[in-house]
Amino acid sequence: MSSEKRMWTAIILILAILLVLVVGGEIRNGLAAAQLSKNATGGPTSADRTTAEGSAATPGTAQAPEIQKPKPDLSNVPDGPEGEAIKYGYELMNKTNTLLPDYVGNRLSCSSCHANGGMDDTSPYLGVAAVFPQYIARSGKVITLEDRINGCFMRSMNGKPLPYNSDEMRAMVAYLTFISEGVPVGIKERPWIQKNRIDAYRNMAEPNLAEGEQLYQQACAACHGQNGEGTGPTTGPALWGPDSFNVGAGIARIGTMAGYIKRNMPLGEMGGIKQGGLTEEQAVNLAAYILSHDRPDFEPKVKDWPNGDAPDDAAYITEAELNKGFDPNTAPWYKGYAERAIKAARAAGGAK
Ligand code: HEC
Ligand code: HEC
Repeated sequence: MSSEKRMWTAIILILAILLVLVVGGEIRNGLAAAQLSKNATGGPTSADRTTAEGSAATPGTAQAPEIQKPKPDLSNVPDGPEGEAIKYGYELMNKTNTLLPDYVGNRLSCSSCHANGGMDDTSPYLGVAAVFPQYIARSGKVITLEDRINGCFMRSMNGKPLPYNSDEMRAMVAYLTFISEGVPVGIKERPWIQKNRIDAYRNMAEPNLAEGEQLYQQACAACHGQNGEGTGPTTGPALWGPDSFNVGAGIARIGTMAGYIKRNMPLGEMGGIKQGGLTEEQAVNLAAYILSHDRPDFEPKVKDWPNGDAPDDAAYITEAELNKGFDPNTAPWYKGYAERAIKAARAAGGAK
């Protein structure tokens, strides 16, 4: 072989080796991505887990990350200013109305709905810092975690938005980031989050308010008060009236309220009913009874769902829907339910 020929053979050999390396890497990356999306949607099956462990044991093979439900432990926060902010954020979640009276317009704390600062299963925030910024149909745009927090300040807390640069906002974000540790930024689904939603209202001709009231007195009033006025933000938050969430809040939607009740209430056991023991219909009747009372209004609500895609159980009718030709008179009973209750109560002279 001439020296020129040998040189060409060597070059071709090197190119061939490079090609094998590149293509092999692509395939492994593809497998890793497939594994990641499988875990993100369905959660790992035992078969997936074996594969992941198997590949971990083989050095040099790409390891597919498993998305685990975070198990935050506040006794593990770092020392120093960051840890202080995380602990302050947790305190703000639990004592929101007393620590931030200028920004909260009712007698609720964030933990009134997101129990134990969103670490318990009622309405959890675990991983929330990884899924924002996110497109929210109600806003009609991509919003940040701070925007989402302020959504609950203005609606669920019937208050004012917290300044983005305040120590309090930073602390809340630091806390939410801490309890999201280990969740990869940008995932779409958190398998451990069960939405507080029930669709049973769609199959019901009308809610049975008498049954709702009877169940309320039996299993709820001891903690939430005879008149829904509440006994305290973390013992039994106000469910209607001036100390409760306003009509713009997510939980003012009948499907959300019913879902929350079905999964989480009564807390423990009350009046012979255990947590999780209500039927879906009973939960809808309770939700309708609770939402049939007067509560604070939220004027900017008409601008919600600006693309005209408000859900069928939205608590009020939006401008965008009306512009699209939506006729409230032909709507089912659950559409705009809370808004009608407020109007009726005020027309009857209960106005504030
Ligand atoms: C009256 C009940 C209620 C109160 C009080 C409340 N929230 Fe919410 N919050 C909700 C509901 C309902 C949702 C929507 C959950 C869903 O999409 O299923 C929500 C969603 C959120 C989300 C987005 C969660 C996610 O996983 O996408 C954040 C963040 C949040 N709330 C923060 C707060 C903060 C901070 C406070 C206190 C300032 C607060 N909330 C008070 C009911 C409440
Ligand atoms: C033993 C006391 C207790 C009983 C009984 C109880 N709750 Fe609650 N409820 C709470 C507490 C405490 C919270 C705050 C969240 C948490 O800690 O889980 C809460 C939160 C709520 C919320 C969300 C907060 C809000 O202001 O909207 C709703 C809705 C609710 N309860 C409805 C009901 C209904 C309906 C029943 C009866 C079927 C009921 N609860 C029975 C204690 C109770």
